[in-house]
Amino acid sequence: MTNAKKFQKVMLVGDGAVGSAYAYAMMQQGLAEELVIVDVVKERTEGDALDLEDAQVFTAPKNVYSGEYSDATDADLVVITAGAPQKPGETRLDLVNKNLKILSTIVKPIVDSGFDGIFLVAANPVDILTYATWKFSGFPKNKVIGSGTSLDTSRLRVALAKKLSVDPRSVEAYIMGEHGDSEFAAYDEATIGSKPLRAIAKENGISDDELLKIEDETRHKAYEIINRKGATYYGVATALMRISKAILRNENAVLPVGAPLDGEYGLSDVFIGTPAIINADGIASVVEVPLSDNEKAQMAASAETLKKVTKDGMD
Ligand code: LAC
Repeated sequence: MTNAKKFQKVMLVGDGAVGSAYAYAMMQQGLAEELVIVDVVKERTEGDALDLEDAQVFTAPKNVYSGEYSDATDADLVVITAGAPQKPGETRLDLVNKNLKILSTIVKPIVDSGFDGIFLVAANPVDILTYATWKFSGFPKNKVIGSGTSLDTSRLRVALAKKLSVDPRSVEAYIMGEHGDSEFAAYDEATIGSKPLRAIAKENGISDDELLKIEDETRHKAYEIINRKGATYYGVATALMRISKAILRNENAVLPVGAPLDGEYGLSDVFIGTPAIINADGIASVVEVPLSDNEKAQMAASAETLKKVTKDGMD
């Protein structure tokens, strides 16, 4: 296992709403001594770098600057948010062709720079673009991570916490599968304080139908936000910061990410949302949740959807 070195460098590719919010979150958390921001709109990255550097006096010293793919040579982590975001009514899978094209222009120059750190992918459809980053880069699978269902899991925990009047951080429940319309809540294994969530819900008069409603609201929350403010960015940027922290601090943290399956859940050759152990080497291992038969079927169906769209998009 790699020990986190003292001086750390992160490259952010894509300085749109998500990228900019991520850069701000990294500054707030004092993560990484160097942050290089790359985007096709150079002036935007220069402006963001100048703006962000003014925050370091209140947080921690950081060399933040506008750069190029060639600056990835000594980076520990490259975070890819570049891509068209969903428009109202658009699914994430609808973005596959245009965002695969953008991704193909990003990964190769970064690999050519000699970069040998970790890729963290957030552009949508994120599970497919994570798979594509693995293919385009030729990197070992464990060094390519997707934001996966990290954001969805947070949304589920927030919704359950509101209903049950507990801290969202105390809800041990996961959204798994595609970061998208085929995702599902693994309720059968969910707990609060080691007590089964279903039992707690029952004690609080929350029916199975209401749990399914919460799952559906979680699945569609992005659309509700996009319909109101045009895009989502704070939630996903903070999820990306959290995953970045687990990598940079070599935490061995269990986080729901887009991880490569190699037989887990009876599935392989797909990157999909599941808990995994994250450290400086990327994905140390997948934590295979003991899913019920119904959940296993949902996971398989979600993987099938991703594989079909990946095949169509990458052939
Ligand atoms: C969302 C975007 C990040 O779910 O896909 O908000």
